Amino acid sequence: MKKKLLTIALLLCGYVGISQSKTNIALIPQPVSLTASTGKYVLQNKININASSQLAEVKSVASLLKSTLHTATGFPVTISGSGKADITLLINQTPNKQLGQEGYELKVTPQGVQLAANAPAGLFYGIQTIFQLLPREIVSKATANATWEMPAVTIVDYPRVGWRGLMLDVARHFFTKQQVKDFIDHMVAYKYNMLHLHLTDDQGWRIEIKSLPQLTAVGAWRASRTGRWGEFTKPSPDEPKDYGGYYTQEDIKELLAYAKERFVTVLPEIDVPGHSMALVAAMSELSCTPGTYQVNAGDKFMIWEGNGKFYGITDNTLCPANEKVYEVLDKVFTEVAALFPFEYIHMGGDEAYKGYWEKSDAVKALMQRENLKDMHEVQSYFVKRVAKIIESKGKKMMGWDEILEGGIADNAAIMSWRGAKGGIEAAKMKHPVVMSPNTHTYVDLYQGDPIAEPPTYSMLRLSQSYKFDPIPEGVDPSYILGGQANLWSERLYTVRHAEYMLWPRAFAVAECLWSPLNVKNWDNFVQRTEQHFKRYDVAEINYSRSMYDPVFAAKRNVDSSITITLSTEVKDLAIHYSFDEFFPDKFYPAYTSPLTVPKDAANLRVITYRNGVPVGKMITMPIAELKKRAR
Ligand code: ACM
Repeated sequence: MKKKLLTIALLLCGYVGISQSKTNIALIPQPVSLTASTGKYVLQNKININASSQLAEVKSVASLLKSTLHTATGFPVTISGSGKADITLLINQTPNKQLGQEGYELKVTPQGVQLAANAPAGLFYGIQTIFQLLPREIVSKATANATWEMPAVTIVDYPRVGWRGLMLDVARHFFTKQQVKDFIDHMVAYKYNMLHLHLTDDQGWRIEIKSLPQLTAVGAWRASRTGRWGEFTKPSPDEPKDYGGYYTQEDIKELLAYAKERFVTVLPEIDVPGHSMALVAAMSELSCTPGTYQVNAGDKFMIWEGNGKFYGITDNTLCPANEKVYEVLDKVFTEVAALFPFEYIHMGGDEAYKGYWEKSDAVKALMQRENLKDMHEVQSYFVKRVAKIIESKGKKMMGWDEILEGGIADNAAIMSWRGAKGGIEAAKMKHPVVMSPNTHTYVDLYQGDPIAEPPTYSMLRLSQSYKFDPIPEGVDPSYILGGQANLWSERLYTVRHAEYMLWPRAFAVAECLWSPLNVKNWDNFVQRTEQHFKRYDVAEINYSRSMYDPVFAAKRNVDSSITITLSTEVKDLAIHYSFDEFFPDKFYPAYTSPLTVPKDAANLRVITYRNGVPVGKMITMPIAELKKRAR
């Protein structure tokens, strides 16, 4: 214990010793241990990488390093097996147990850069750290001007959890193959290693299934709509269905190869029995409710009441009492299992509305035959049949936490999304778990006040994401595979918007998944995030600056007036405000204590400043809105 405390004290000293602002070291995720020393290493004119290992994966890491260095610096870069080198990549002959398969040791001195790891993945994460030690221009897509130096530093680093995932919903909005590759590039820079592709949903079926061509011929396309999701008009049957797309199996293979080269595993999700409108549009006989269906275009087909309550207006579920459903899913999972090398296949299982099953005579007969007492057990029957199909293809099944209801399938893994509860319950039953709670990792949610953000659902500020702990208290951590952030895309139409939702919250989640708890620090994370904003400006990747915007709170007084309290997630900001309809520049009053609203004022306008420079956006908050909230 004493030794442990000493180690922790030393680690903390290591961090205290490096003032991030002095050294300009701004790593995300924060490494396990970092000791800065004096001096630097400067890359100039001609760069040599020494990678003596004969492993193909090491050669591949070296060539990724070479490519980034060459693109940004414009210098010739060579890879050699011996001799003097600027950067040496080494595979440890005697593995350093502490580092595991993904850890690395990096030493930058005025003489050169040494990167050592037990395995190629460790070298790969080490080079991500090298990039972050270099000037921000390293992320430039063209030759840039910079002094290509790295501060002298010793880093020992390895991840806290093995599953560091990002989910990309390619079903609601189709992202092209190139966009998915870019997504992979962006995620690995923050040491994510799992790409969960949400391939099917009510709004699109995105993967070619050769034995069922109608799934993409019909299911991948919908009527085009732009505007406010969920409020669109229902497409007419003869309206062109030309918005969407899908990945051919060749595309998937190309993406898998791209991911593998970057040490990313791809988890495919086929979401059934709910969220299946695109499938039912292609094969309406799979529904319990006869009719004609079309791929949802963002018109209302479900009523969401909040608190997990929802009602279907149109049946978007597969019929659990129809044998044809299992025959179709057998074909789908046969092809999915053959394509994706990962041991898990995700079968969704979330938010299946059971109202149409209740009305179905076939389901009633199934319940009698199988002795199923309620709809949870009907869903559990369906999930267990799907588990059998998936296992018959040599794979393991994963599902959202709803698959706990009515009895979990043996061996199923759980992805916990409705908070941590389902994950904790599953881990206690000795099932593997991935934690992706909507309370911390749903990066499709609001990150600032809804009055000033694109419409979505509930609130998830950056500071809340940063509190994510993938290993909940009171569970055996050996059942926690890791954690994941999810980017749902029903409200996204462009990569710019997707990036805005993702970053910086995915910086925060990356640190929660990689870094040990003792090196996490919110204020320091914010400072580093600001450095990474500058990198993203160079890389032309979008991000949200909502962490600078104020948090509004309104309290109703006995005389029915309101008192407004403003605060910020980020410290040392001045909030300048106006009630007079003009833009509150830095000459306007700065918020110091709760505000009372002047008689007849209609709007409170605010902008946050740091050192006299605006950092937040101007937010116009109607007083009527605050009154509504204070009710
Ligand atoms: C989910 O967010 N419905 C898994």
